[in-house]
Amino acid sequence: MKLDFSHTNIKDEELTKIKDILNHALKWLWNLSERKVIGFLELPFRDTEHIKRLVADKRKELDTLILIGIGGSSLGAECLIKALKGSYEKFFVLDNVDPIKLKEILPRIDPEKCCFNVVSKSGSTAETIANFIALVSALKEKLGWEKIKERLVITTDPEKGSLRELARKENIASLEVPPNVAGRYSVLSDVGLFPAAFTGIDIDKVLLGAKTAYKELDLDVLESKPLILSGIYWLSYLKGKRISVMMTYSERLEKFSDWYRQLWAESLGKGEKGQTPVKAIGTVDQHSQIQLYNDGPKDKIITLLHAEELEGDFCLEEIPAFSELESFKYLFGHSLGELFKAELLGTMGAFIKYRVPFLRLTLDRINEENMGWLFFTYQVATAINGYLYGVNPFDQPAVEEGKRFAYGILGRQGFEEKRKELTKLLQFDFLESPS
Ligand code: PA5
Repeated sequence: MKLDFSHTNIKDEELTKIKDILNHALKWLWNLSERKVIGFLELPFRDTEHIKRLVADKRKELDTLILIGIGGSSLGAECLIKALKGSYEKFFVLDNVDPIKLKEILPRIDPEKCCFNVVSKSGSTAETIANFIALVSALKEKLGWEKIKERLVITTDPEKGSLRELARKENIASLEVPPNVAGRYSVLSDVGLFPAAFTGIDIDKVLLGAKTAYKELDLDVLESKPLILSGIYWLSYLKGKRISVMMTYSERLEKFSDWYRQLWAESLGKGEKGQTPVKAIGTVDQHSQIQLYNDGPKDKIITLLHAEELEGDFCLEEIPAFSELESFKYLFGHSLGELFKAELLGTMGAFIKYRVPFLRLTLDRINEENMGWLFFTYQVATAINGYLYGVNPFDQPAVEEGKRFAYGILGRQGFEEKRKELTKLLQFDFLESPS
């Protein structure tokens, strides 16, 4: 993993100046971890035997995984599987409740061969519970509840919540979300590791990569990539960069931007502070976003994330019918991969010319260890930025309000007042004009 921050407009001296505060932030994090207030720092060291046993058991008969979960309960697994397995056709995620999602999945699966992993730390997220109910309703004719049960794995709080209650009552296989790990910090727990292992990913290697990042926390600030990244993002925020673009020059890393987007936004967007995370993918967004990045407001720090090793390549052979065409000729003898790399370098050159600050993270290849390293590093950088901003990076209080209004509309007990409040805010009564 190489980190080049020479074009961020942030000098070593500036990082040296904030060394003490970064070390304070780290101490604060260790302290929270020692007191078990937070649990994500310990995840790389947890035993994985229970996950591997359960996977071996389920894989005897089943070959497809349907993950029912949303936000921190799905994005990490989705990112890991996309990165390491590509567009794996036997893995589906039911996160959104737009009915089209389930409608499109059903004809593509053989329910007999499916494992259903319902993931919700709280055990009560409306989308997850509703998708679960909808899936069971859709499959009950074909499979029946007993067969569905055999194919279920519930990942939730070890003690509390409706899903835990269901797992106990119906004797359903279950896994745990540690109570002191917030959803978006849970990819290295059972939440991300069970789906990953089910699809054949070596989860111990993922944790090995996370351990490497963990060890880097002992290094001097200027030697430790997790701490350098923490400092770079914070200093960029102080310099007015209110937008952080995660631009991956890699199809396989595309979901990493989604994962980062949630982590950065939900953890740091508090008290009118925060850096808006934006997802971009090269080269596609060169034809969509780059005009703005280069010549629009200078309010962005851009992270270019890519891997040196590309998977497969295609030669651009000279085709006789094309040989006289000006826009074709220069490409002959090159490959798709060469063009991809040239476009990345071209974008970097343009950023330098237009004085757009960017940092570049280069993986030698996309593998288990590097993914574990990335997850752990970015979780630490996020938590440390929380300390530097003076916000709690582990809660998400402002997420709740919209949910409470939706509960009011659907008649959930205890939320009657919310419906009335919403009626006033929207200036119409949902029950009278439901559209
Ligand atoms: O990071 C978080 O805490 C959230 O994004 C949650 O993961 C998300 O809201 C889903 O919550 P739950 O796992 O309780 O269903």
